[in-house]
Amino acid sequence: MSAFKVERDGGVAIVTFDMPGEPVNKFSKSVIAEFDAVMEGIEREVTVGNVGAIVIISGKPDSFIAGADIDEFLTFNTAAMARAASAEGQVRFAALERTRTQVVAAIHGACMGGGLELALACQYRIATEHSKTILALPETQLGLIPGLGGTQRLPRQVGLQTALDMILTGKNLRAKKALQIGLVEELVHPALLRAVAIQRARELATGARSHPVRRAGLMGALLEGNPIGRSIVLRQARAMSEKRARGNYPALGAAIEAVAAGYGPHHEGYALESRLFGEMAMTPVSRQLINIFFATTALKKDRGVTGDAPPALPVPRVAVLGTGFMGAGIAAVSAQAGLPVRFKDVSHEQIGRGLAAVRDVLKERLRRRQITRQQYDDQFSLVSGTTEYTGFANVPLVVEAVFEDVAVKHKVLREVEPLLRPDAILATNTSTIPIVDVARGATRPERVIGMHFFSPVHKMPLLEIIVTPQTAPQVITTAVAFGRSIGKTVIVVNDSPGFFVNRILAPYMNEAGRLLEEGVAIDAIDDAMLDWGFPVGPITLLDEVGLDIAGKSGAIFAAAFGDRLKPSEAMARVLASGRLGRKNKSGFFRYDARGKRLGVDSSVYALLGTSRTRARVRAEAIQERLSLAMINEAMRCLEEGVVRQPRDGDIGAIFGIGFPPFRGGPFRVVDAVGAAQVVNRLKVLNGLHPGRFEPCAMLAQLAATGKPVYKS
Ligand code: NAI
Repeated sequence: MSAFKVERDGGVAIVTFDMPGEPVNKFSKSVIAEFDAVMEGIEREVTVGNVGAIVIISGKPDSFIAGADIDEFLTFNTAAMARAASAEGQVRFAALERTRTQVVAAIHGACMGGGLELALACQYRIATEHSKTILALPETQLGLIPGLGGTQRLPRQVGLQTALDMILTGKNLRAKKALQIGLVEELVHPALLRAVAIQRARELATGARSHPVRRAGLMGALLEGNPIGRSIVLRQARAMSEKRARGNYPALGAAIEAVAAGYGPHHEGYALESRLFGEMAMTPVSRQLINIFFATTALKKDRGVTGDAPPALPVPRVAVLGTGFMGAGIAAVSAQAGLPVRFKDVSHEQIGRGLAAVRDVLKERLRRRQITRQQYDDQFSLVSGTTEYTGFANVPLVVEAVFEDVAVKHKVLREVEPLLRPDAILATNTSTIPIVDVARGATRPERVIGMHFFSPVHKMPLLEIIVTPQTAPQVITTAVAFGRSIGKTVIVVNDSPGFFVNRILAPYMNEAGRLLEEGVAIDAIDDAMLDWGFPVGPITLLDEVGLDIAGKSGAIFAAAFGDRLKPSEAMARVLASGRLGRKNKSGFFRYDARGKRLGVDSSVYALLGTSRTRARVRAEAIQERLSLAMINEAMRCLEEGVVRQPRDGDIGAIFGIGFPPFRGGPFRVVDAVGAAQVVNRLKVLNGLHPGRFEPCAMLAQLAATGKPVYKS
């Protein structure tokens, strides 16, 4: 069955792209070959005068072209194969660009990667003014570069600086923004797309309409219109991306070089683009980023239970207990998703504060133009407050975010349970209390589940759902479906102290504390881990999270797992001195009156007992100690069944604590390095720091058998 259908409207050929049996259109080698044959047929008709213009449109309801077929990337065994695929596509799109007629791209829905590159090769682009219409070149997010002419045509279409920004961030542009920057020439209502596209094609072909002339602004012209200006822009882009990537994301540099080559002789830019595309496709970085893409896609289909389970309960509204920091965040993301939220706290003052916090989150979205004024008003009006549990009778899901105190949690459960319908779900957002302990206070423990949100809730993508042996399957599927409906990436883990994400963080943070105790400088530790690929260093993280919170969870881990996860004593001394981190503007760093961070507070070294010594430990040694402590703990979690499969743990580590995405997650690191090598290094470290680096049984077994963590 063909992916393309050709119809006629007078002298206009309308090519509809609609891949049979697929939810979205994707470019693969075979699809491009088919497109080539279709276009050649039309070109012949142009020659004999039967066709005067062409429209390319999608047959899918809300998607134009989602991009390249990413499965196919994994079939490239050599850089030459990937390069050839790119070069063949380039030839096809070049033919489109040079056609003797006019081709109009009619864009509704996602127009990503190869889809946008196709549109760029057309003579005219119309997009629908619709929230589903999004344009982007996301290749660098997969460790690749655009390979179908995107690095060459985009700068010509929108200017060098805008193009670099789009390519290096991979960010999504809405239709309005695309019009503003000149990426598309016109916006229309979705109902008019096809008709207007046909009309424009005809007008352009007959000369009744001419191509719009784009004028760069004064600054744009000064900077980009001449080689010196361009070299300044390119130099800045190189410096920025080196700073951001710290050498870990080679595609950023490659994309800049391909763009730069586009200002030289015509063919050289395209040739370099496909060569670099081929090289990037073979990098381990790209393989790992593609693995993450597949893992998150698979997670979207995972219901959170193995085997049969009743369908998820519909959750058309939620209740949130506790309107503090986390409760407000949970209410805001629920309202954003269009759900009415009933907000309960002990006083009207506290509810007022909670509502103000919700308003701030939504206002920020309005300020960033992610929502309209109308949407802001609608979403904010979805949240209502009570001190009395009124309006709870018909809520299917209650999320509890009261103080982290099991007695308080039991008290609110006792109060709320009798007021709810019998199948209502009670989710607790505790960060440290085992879910079984919370459930003990409920008369229906099978309806209790953990929903561990991360702070700030509206920014952090992960939701860790925690189930106990008692949790009913329908409670799990409902919680998972709800989490997804509010835009979270959801992993389901089994109940255990610290669950998964905080548990693997514990030995990592403890090890950072030990290094401080040994006299290593604060910034040396942070810098080493930034170089390794974490978005913030561990000591900065301590200041951000709060030393009091870290201290409490440290004590819980020490109680549950003994000396292996016991925090360093030096840390306890820093906490005892009253330093809480950013929240009281006193931690490992100094802050000014407005809360801006200034630099390391060297007076901390006296508290650590290392004021005169500054131990020199190589960055690699710091990285190895911290990362292996985390990886070994992650393996223990897999061994104990805390995570159900490696995929969930890798996604949890990346989305929950910023484990470097290009490394693929702790389990992917074991497979990349080899379990035997990991075990060898752990043994060496355990010799130096007895008890903290004992390789777990599962790692030892994998090392002995030579098997990977991932089965396939
Ligand atoms: P918070 O102190 O900001 O808010 C707690 C709220 O609960 C307050 O508004 C308080 O008035 C309210 N509350 C107390 N007793 C109540 C009752 N009987 N009925 C109704 N409301 C009551 O605390 P935060 O930070 O929002 O934490 C809440 C929960 O979320 C805790 O279990 C915490 O461990 C967990 N958590 C916190 C994270 C964080 O980064 N702060 C991250 C993940 C989970």
